[in-house]
Amino acid sequence: MSITLPPLPYALDALEPHLSRRTLGVHHGNHHAAYVAKTRALIQRTPLESATLEEIVLSSAEQDKTLFNASAQAWNHEFYWQSMRPGGGGEAHGAIAQLIEASFGTQSAFSQQFVTAAGDQFGSGWAWLVLEDGLVRIIATSNAHTPLTTPQVPLLTIDVWEHAYYLDYQQRRLDYIAAFLGHLINWDFANQNLARPREVGVPALVGTGKAARSQSQAIGRRL
Ligand code: FE2
Repeated sequence: MSITLPPLPYALDALEPHLSRRTLGVHHGNHHAAYVAKTRALIQRTPLESATLEEIVLSSAEQDKTLFNASAQAWNHEFYWQSMRPGGGGEAHGAIAQLIEASFGTQSAFSQQFVTAAGDQFGSGWAWLVLEDGLVRIIATSNAHTPLTTPQVPLLTIDVWEHAYYLDYQQRRLDYIAAFLGHLINWDFANQNLARPREVGVPALVGTGKAARSQSQAIGRRL
């Protein structure tokens, strides 16, 4: 079985004082780990047992809500950890900076729209910076939903489920979003994603259904 809980890309206390060791310990060790464990349990002794996490997300998106919720949350969290780094935040640089200026006018305009999207997402969900049709966009998704199942290429994400920030910020989601933008966001990861769009494959076992066709089309547009 290929699905395991990946280690954090930094130490548990590396994002302090913006996100505490306690928050990262619970979020990674309990929440993320639970999504991985549930995914593993659901694919055991099925044709998806040796599939990659991306393949499981794409395969289950329209066919198995329980597996989709677990596997997409596992994928989203892995992407989220990489969207932050110690000493991150501030102005974008490199190719992503040029795209942000072409798409939003200024980095300040981007920041304002990101705060609005992440702050206004009702209930649990995610805000994302994605590449679509040569420009970058900000989108929000609810619960486990992810741009991975669309033609949009995810570049960065922030988790706005309460478990991501409540221990440090309680109900003050906007303070958490400000800390993410000011001190944590990992522009190097966005540039890596721009340089290497994800290549994913749909398992043969779902290669004949409507969902698989739409997934294949989405992947084709992405590459
Ligand atoms: Fe989370």
